[in-house]
Amino acid sequence: MTRFSTPPDLRAAIASLLDERSRRELAARVARISALFRERRRTSEAIADEDDALAYALFRLPATYAATASVLAGLSERSPAFRPRRLLDLGAGLGVASWAALQLWPDIETIVMLDRSADFLSLARRLAASGGPALARAQVVSGDMGDPPDFGEPFDLIVSSYAVTEIPDARLAEVLDAAWRNCRGALAIVEPGTPRDYARLMRARTLLVDAGAHLSAPCPHSAPCPLVAPDWCHFAVRLARSRDHKLVKGAAAPFEDEKFAYLAAARREASLAPAATRVLMRPEALKYAVRLRLCTRRGIEETAILKRDRHRFDSIKKTAWGDDVDALEEMAAGE
Ligand SMILES: C[S@@+](CC[C@H](N)C(=O)[O-])C[C@H]1O[C@@H](n2cnc3c(N)ncnc32)[C@H](O)[C@@H]1O
Repeated sequence: MTRFSTPPDLRAAIASLLDERSRRELAARVARISALFRERRRTSEAIADEDDALAYALFRLPATYAATASVLAGLSERSPAFRPRRLLDLGAGLGVASWAALQLWPDIETIVMLDRSADFLSLARRLAASGGPALARAQVVSGDMGDPPDFGEPFDLIVSSYAVTEIPDARLAEVLDAAWRNCRGALAIVEPGTPRDYARLMRARTLLVDAGAHLSAPCPHSAPCPLVAPDWCHFAVRLARSRDHKLVKGAAAPFEDEKFAYLAAARREASLAPAATRVLMRPEALKYAVRLRLCTRRGIEETAILKRDRHRFDSIKKTAWGDDVDALEEMAAGE
């Protein structure tokens, strides 16, 4: 869990901006912004000034960071040869995707944060000044995801976290087309874990595959998704809540679970091979076995691994929702 908590430098930068702020006023902002986000209003309607952006840093950033960091960690663990140097943070907000990517790939040299919210960008710039050299010199660009400026050179990694969700259906293809054109490596899109966002990701998946992309995660293949509505796929990450976070949210629990859906697509040359098998739900512990729901190259499979099948059981007993479990496929192939 701690792997996906906000980096200490970013936490400290936010804490110093929060210093001396009235927690009551922040809580009122948090309540208003949360209500607007629950109604699916866009950032342009919810974030009215830089203090609203700061309230977002307190109550939403830890969760969007954790979800994005978990997706990027999966890519990095699976494909150690993938070492991006140029990063585009699309719909950057406060730049969480940039911070998360830099934790995993310290060799990143160039960071571009693109967004159309002046309030988010202004705070993103101030926060980035507290990061390492690549963050401190990040280019913070005001622009539209569907009609981005000419960046001169494509990016090794493009990450869009919780931003595509704000793109109207009619503009989805245009935004994806622009992102893919600017990508020479991998494109990761992280979205809220809702059926609506999953369905839109499936549309994005088709558009990207038609454009020549190969799926790297979570899907084990680039053939059509075997899930049939109302079935859908999403994941979750648990994150600790700070004292201020609990205070402004009026929450008692010391943690929260952030549900998210995602898609990572790559150019063939980027060698980001997908996993053979993905765990689609929290594994169910039975008395004599663990039951798993898996997405495999053959389709969706439900399987129970018996405790007495020691070899298999030991290989999956620590498996969590969202993990890839290629060991099972390898064992099946070896039988
Ligand atoms: C909910 S915030 C997420 C911010 C950040 N990526 C995160 O994960 O915390 C959505 C962001 O997408 C940006 N956005 C929405 N539509 C956009 C567009 N057409 N072009 C550029 N940015 C856009 C908003 O301004 C906002 O910063």
